[in-house]
Amino acid sequence: MTSLTLCCSRRAVAANAYVNANWRFIQTLQRRQQQQQQLQLQQQCRRLSAAATTTAPKTNANNSEFAILSRNMSLSASSPKLVAVEESRRFMIDCFKAVKVPEAHARAQADLLVAADYRGHFSHGMNRLEMYINDLAINSTNGGADPKVLKETPATAWVDGCNGLGAVVGNFCMDLAIKKAKTVGIGWVCSRGSNHYGMAGWYALRAMENGLVGMSMTNTSPLMAPTGAKEAALGTNPLSLGAPAGDCDHFLLDMATTAVAVGKIEIQNRKGAPLPDGWAQDPDGNVTNDAKLAFATGCLLPLGGTELTSGYKGYGLGAMVDILSGVMSGAKYSTQVRKWTHTGANTAADLGQLFVAIDPNCFAPDFEERMQDFNSRLRGAKPTDPNKPVLLAGDKESRNMKAVDEAGGIQYLENQLNTCAALAERLKIKPLSFK
Ligand SMILES: NC(=O)c1ccc[n+]([C@@H]2O[C@H](COP(=O)([O-])OP(=O)(O)OC[C@H]3O[C@@H](n4cnc5c(N)ncnc54)[C@H](O)[C@@H]3O)[C@@H](O)[C@H]2O)c1
Repeated sequence: MTSLTLCCSRRAVAANAYVNANWRFIQTLQRRQQQQQQLQLQQQCRRLSAAATTTAPKTNANNSEFAILSRNMSLSASSPKLVAVEESRRFMIDCFKAVKVPEAHARAQADLLVAADYRGHFSHGMNRLEMYINDLAINSTNGGADPKVLKETPATAWVDGCNGLGAVVGNFCMDLAIKKAKTVGIGWVCSRGSNHYGMAGWYALRAMENGLVGMSMTNTSPLMAPTGAKEAALGTNPLSLGAPAGDCDHFLLDMATTAVAVGKIEIQNRKGAPLPDGWAQDPDGNVTNDAKLAFATGCLLPLGGTELTSGYKGYGLGAMVDILSGVMSGAKYSTQVRKWTHTGANTAADLGQLFVAIDPNCFAPDFEERMQDFNSRLRGAKPTDPNKPVLLAGDKESRNMKAVDEAGGIQYLENQLNTCAALAERLKIKPLSFK
């Protein structure tokens, strides 16, 4: 069974069991809610737009991670096209193999990216493919590298990713952590010399599939301004925590530690709409409502926003991620981490990552049963809007997978498909098929 299949397995699929209403009805409700939210956002932004500045951008963000998002996350009026999950996977494997990545590594990386699209995190799926290919093509990532253990105890391991693909390093480390947790109750593995490893939740899922609690985190290229700073000194540094629950349910928190993902700034920019407070800064360190300026500056606020709204807590969480992944592993950290550019970077990323697996049976018995009760207490909390039930971390992603299954594929935007067509031509592989 492949990792992707595993992730769509028993737990993930059955996690939708609580969604017993008609799915189309839910989608209609969601659309209505989105329209209402958009209206509220527009009203808020109209009030805020007077403060928006038009200062000329000072950064090189056009040649960065922002640029590829700008091209791929188009708000094109044309409707998205449906791509079968297996076809999306086939296409990505072919792309990796075309730049000399060995079959097993190509499959591992493709599984990760398809799973992100399947779960609705498009910013970390096919959208990243071209950046990985560019890095591989100029050898700033070594697609054939296998990680190696540098130091080991029964519960811990320090791993050198040897500049290999993120999923290859991440799967190796989490599998090692799982093995240790099954033997001594916990596995704590940190790696240096890694590359962008996609969605942090992928690795927590791997532990959960073994009945374990999983955690993972990674440092990333600087994009977050520490509270009070006017330049970025931390990345969007995501973290994940996954816990299995009875009746095939689960909890899976998988989040960046910045206020919003880069893609959300880009979408406001493309709409010509201002940003709400608390998302991003201008080059002088002031909160900006100007999406264009924010996009060019590349300086996001931490989760929580400014100091007034406790942004220092998101800043603290982002720093925690970097300490446990970058500093502890001997990888690059903070501003040492390279900028990741669309055309590829001329240095190795040397990212640091952490993978933890814990056997809950080492503690109070019946963990999964109590998790099930825990989950139902949170979901059962009285909602402020009766049409909008309270969700748990991981619920949106489960719904998204269900929607993909029912639609018979993943909906990709036109610009993403154009990027894939150009990639197919450049790498001389079979183009992506879509309906
Ligand atoms: N590798 C990297 O460099 C990197 C960097 C940043 C983010 N990422 C990945 O990008 C993806 C998206 O991150 P994000 O921060 O934008 O995620 P997000 O804001 O969409 O979701 C964050 C978490 O909140 C939960 N959630 C969402 N709505 C909820 C609600 N109404 N009630 C309860 N829980 C809710 C989600 O299930 C998820 O666990 C993640 O997979 C993350 O790991 C990767």
